[in-house]
Amino acid sequence: MPRKLFVTTALPYANAAFHIGHMMEYIQADTWVRAQRMLGAEVNFVCADDAHGAPIMIAAEKAGLTPQQFVGKIAAGRAQYLEGFGIAFDNWHSTDGPENHRLAQDIYLALRDQGLIETRTIEQFYDPEKGMFLPDRFIKGECPKCGALDQYGDNCENCGAVYAPTDLKNPRSALSGATPVLKTSEHFFFKLSDPRCVAFLEQWTQDGKLQPEVANKVREWFSRDEAGKSGLSDWDISRDAPYFGIQIPDAPGKYFYVWLDAPIGYLASLQNLFAKRAQDGSDGAAACAAYLADPDLEQVHFIGKDIVTFHTLFWPATLHFSGRKVPTAIHVHGFLTVHNEKMSKSRGTGINPLTYLELGLNPEWLRYYIAAKLNSRVEDIDFNPEDFIARVNSDLVGKYINIASRAAGFLAKRFGGHLSADLGVEGRLLLDGLRAQRLGVEELYAGREFGKAVRETMLLADRVNEYVDLHKPWELAKQAGGDDAGAAAKRAALHDVCSVCIEAFRLLTIYLKPILPALAVQVEAFLQVEPMQFADAERALGHHRIADYQHLMQRVDAAKLEALLAPPEPVAAPAVAPGGEEIADEIGIADFSKIDLRIARIVNAETVEGSTKLLRLTLDVGEARTRNVFSGIRSAYAPEQLIGKLTMMVANLAPRKMKFGLSEGMVLAASHADDKAQPGIFVLEPGPGAQPGMRVR
Ligand code: 2FM
Ligand code: ZN
Repeated sequence: MPRKLFVTTALPYANAAFHIGHMMEYIQADTWVRAQRMLGAEVNFVCADDAHGAPIMIAAEKAGLTPQQFVGKIAAGRAQYLEGFGIAFDNWHSTDGPENHRLAQDIYLALRDQGLIETRTIEQFYDPEKGMFLPDRFIKGECPKCGALDQYGDNCENCGAVYAPTDLKNPRSALSGATPVLKTSEHFFFKLSDPRCVAFLEQWTQDGKLQPEVANKVREWFSRDEAGKSGLSDWDISRDAPYFGIQIPDAPGKYFYVWLDAPIGYLASLQNLFAKRAQDGSDGAAACAAYLADPDLEQVHFIGKDIVTFHTLFWPATLHFSGRKVPTAIHVHGFLTVHNEKMSKSRGTGINPLTYLELGLNPEWLRYYIAAKLNSRVEDIDFNPEDFIARVNSDLVGKYINIASRAAGFLAKRFGGHLSADLGVEGRLLLDGLRAQRLGVEELYAGREFGKAVRETMLLADRVNEYVDLHKPWELAKQAGGDDAGAAAKRAALHDVCSVCIEAFRLLTIYLKPILPALAVQVEAFLQVEPMQFADAERALGHHRIADYQHLMQRVDAAKLEALLAPPEPVAAPAVAPGGEEIADEIGIADFSKIDLRIARIVNAETVEGSTKLLRLTLDVGEARTRNVFSGIRSAYAPEQLIGKLTMMVANLAPRKMKFGLSEGMVLAASHADDKAQPGIFVLEPGPGAQPGMRVR
């Protein structure tokens, strides 16, 4: 019976284009799926955009779009990558589709019926200006441990400390700059600490579905304390409005946390595929549910090592306790580094997949290179340009493609493209040897040992090249010209050797086809055969005519690869004026040097009677006397906040007579042009060590 497989990759957040890390995961999963199909499996391979969550809602707002418009734009950019690299998903959908709304709500209600949902009141930072609760990532402040400024609410990039946002000193909202306040709210929890969940997950995570290193890591999360209580904590699955997500039934203003509905999106994308296939206009729900419930169906998720918790605890529990079948396997991969540098999730690495395609680099080189480095373990793999060139040029082209190009010319010119069916004893032995590896190669693919599959295949290519070097078809061709019996024998030998090469090339192409699907299509056209499956390795072409040979694959041009890795061009000026106003007209250094900027100490600060805007500052600029300066910063500072601070001032500004007295200079402060949209005035402060009177240049 053919295997029935439902396969997914992780659903990418719909807030950015793909980076090379996404492509690695898709290439891994796509290669596996293609291998399974070549073995006769029935596969549904789907993905979708992960559309929900606060970061996407906020990014959309910044872009002046609705969240739906924003994710729609991102989704529209997906196809060029997927088609470009030959990733053959059967469906691409969105977690914001109607299927997912429906499924997530149904699943939640089933969990609630099981008594696994509980509400609790929690305290969280709230942005009073924005009127919303702040995710940790949107709270900034000073690290409670090392005091570094401008650190995120969950960890310090300076000292690595991990803490709660409430530990930050001088916390502020990264959205509005306002000081967040603690506010209570009712949240919904999935009771993973329930003994039923713990028992189920302990069993599920340890019964061989996970890679050993993943299972070991997961086991640590179950460690019990002295009272015998397991380490699993309940999972907070709700977020308060405003939130871009799916509404929680019977809970106005409450939404599912994005990670609750994201994996349900796997099922939603599959259902959407069933709906597209349905002849009767049905929504696919019933057919999809029946398919998913089939005991023979294997459900397989490919994911990165950063999202293991979600897929080994939350997701199987969500499925199981809502009465559904659980995943058969979670295949976890490591990260892709470039020159051993870890990439950032948001910026990606120095390799932009679109630039790769635009430069005319062959997408199958990348598929080959990544496959050659992948194994079934959770190891990071490194993209190294020299290694890339070596593997493609020496192995892929030098060892494999060359087999065809060495033989095809003779066959076309001397034998009208007809193959010999005899092949000779040595040739038959060689081919039998190649065929004998088929089951091994199939197993390597099934076990995601693509690197080994490539190595095995290249060893076979070595054998073929040794055979060619031994039989020297170019020599045979020279001796095959005459009419005598000797020449006729050489001609027959040439025919056999070249036919062996083509047959060997066909076998090697089958072994590489999951990795190089586009090349395989070209080879099938050249060989004039139907799309090849693994089982086709057992047959021989025999008496058969092949087409003329067209060059199948170039070598890598090192200059192009260099261009790919070159640092990106500086980004074009944003369409929006920075800080709300255009940069002023250009000046020369002479203009600038006319302005005498000095460090000043604020010796005193006080309010000004009759003015709501001004503070009166007494400044020490290192002169024998102090200066009197009026500054329009009262809305932002209380006088006592300023006393003793260093700042910067324009020291040679002509004194100005004001209603309240003489102003002898101007203190520097930053503000947005539109103080309604972005309120705040920020007096400049020099770095530590500056002294009053020092010039700023
Ligand atoms: O980490 C991520 O990029 C998530 N968007 C992955 C979601 S996978 C699945 F659960 F949808
Ligand atoms: Zn710190």
